[in-house]
Formats: sequence, C-alpha cells, structure tokens
Amino acid sequence: MEVCTTPNELRAYVRWLRKQGLSIALVPTMGYLHAGHMSLVERASREAKRVIVSIFVNPTQFGDPADLEAYPRDTKRDLAILREADVEAVFLPTAKTMYPDGHETIVETTRLAEALHGELRAGHFRGVTTVVAKLFNLVTPDVACFGEKDYQQLQVVRTMVRDLHFPVRIVGCPTVREPDGLALSSRNVRLSPEDRTAALVLNRALDRAEEMAAAGTTVEAMRDAVVEMIRAEPRATLKSVDIAEPGTLKPLSGPPSGPLAVMLSAEFGGVLLIDQREIFL
Ligand code: PAF
Repeated sequence: MEVCTTPNELRAYVRWLRKQGLSIALVPTMGYLHAGHMSLVERASREAKRVIVSIFVNPTQFGDPADLEAYPRDTKRDLAILREADVEAVFLPTAKTMYPDGHETIVETTRLAEALHGELRAGHFRGVTTVVAKLFNLVTPDVACFGEKDYQQLQVVRTMVRDLHFPVRIVGCPTVREPDGLALSSRNVRLSPEDRTAALVLNRALDRAEEMAAAGTTVEAMRDAVVEMIRAEPRATLKSVDIAEPGTLKPLSGPPSGPLAVMLSAEFGGVLLIDQREIFL
C-alpha cells in the first residue's frame, strides 16, 4: 500500500494508475477508522479498480478548537486496517500541506451550508466542501463514497459536484450500526458507558418517526414526538431535529406525501452525535 503525504507524490501515483487504465474510487475520511468507514472502502472497491483513502482531520470544519483537539486519532492503527483491506493508496497530508500559508480560497454551497446543521455549526460545511474539492482535484477520482449518516454533508457534496461540474460520481452508503442500534462514529469512543446507553435514544426516536410517517402523521407531530423523546432522556442535550425533503433538504410540513429525511443531533456528556434516516413512503 502506497502512503502519500504530499500532493506531488499523490499526483505522481494517480498518473501511474491512470497510465494503466485503472479507475479510481476515493474514500475521504478523518481517520480513527471503524466498520462504517470500512463499509465505504468495501463499496468503493466494487465501484472502481483501485481505492484511495484519505485521512485528514480537517481543521476548517471544526468550529471549536477543543473539539478539533479532542478528535480521536490513531494513524498507525488506521494504516494497518487499510493494508488488511487491500487499499491501493492512502493520502495522509498535514494541515500545512492542505492549507499552506496565505491560503484564502474557499468553496461553499451557499444555501445548503447555512441550512439545518449549518446553523448550529457555523462554517462547518464550508470547511467540508473546501477540503473535499481539494481532494477531488488531487485524486481526480471516478467515484467517491460518503456515508449517509452525515446526511447533510452528502447533499452538500452532491450539490458542489453538480454546480462545479466535478467529473466524479458520488455514492451514498448506508449507516452502519452497532447491534443495539447506535450509529458508528469515531466520536463514540469519547462516550462514557452511561452516555453511550443514553445515546440509543437517537435510533429509537428515528424508529418512532418512521412509524408515525407510515401512519400518515403530520411532520409537525412527528417532530414534536421526536423532540419529546430526546428531551425525556436526562443525559441528552438536544441540538436539532429536522425533517426535510431528501436531496434539497427543504423543510416539510403537513402529512408526508413522499420520502423524507429525518436528521437529529444531540450532545451526550459534551460529545456531539448525529443520526439520520431516510424514510420512503
Ligand atoms: O465525513 C468526514 O469524515 C469528513 O467530513 C470528510 C468528508 C472526510 C471531510 O473532511
């Protein structure tokens, strides 16, 4: 497995793959890999001949320096996992390489970056689109795989790709859960055992929303029920409940007449978790 740390190394490696006529799938990550990431790698390997994984804890998508500092990292372990998984190459840049002194260009989806979670995490999606655009320019992948758990991120990336004519196909991959329903996240290791148990309320609230949608309940009533369930969990600090049209993420109201995306975020012991479900009626 090739480990590239600079854009020049990566570009040379990509040229070599292209010379052999090999297609490339990119899996962008922030490391501390878990089964959710590996499901993206697995999907990527079915979508293209070679898989490149990037590991970069992107500082521009963190609002709070303490959150960036606390983000778990274990590059040695990540590389061992990726080697086992037959990944072709890993891009492991430093922050200085990705954002050299004097860096001032940003990429932003204007409406989508400010909607929903964008309101809670100012600048977050701008950081994501900026770094993903850089990764797309460096790797020039045919396909890139993103998790559906970060549902708004997936829509933001799809919108950027469409608007800026990036020649890459975006594949959204289903959320991977623990047997008890907790969505996998690199942040889960920071949860105390009590907070981890409390966090199961997110998946339960999504189950409830799905049942209510199937019964034709209004979006407003669904939202109230989800808010009430999460507020009833004393260890949870509810951050947001959004029920929106998949793709555009425009807010919905009244009885649902088509598919909907339910997106939740809450803090447990200071750890921000998000979860989502797309409901097809
Ligand atoms: O989903 C993530 O891990 C990150 O937001 C991404 C897409 C790797 C960009 O830094």
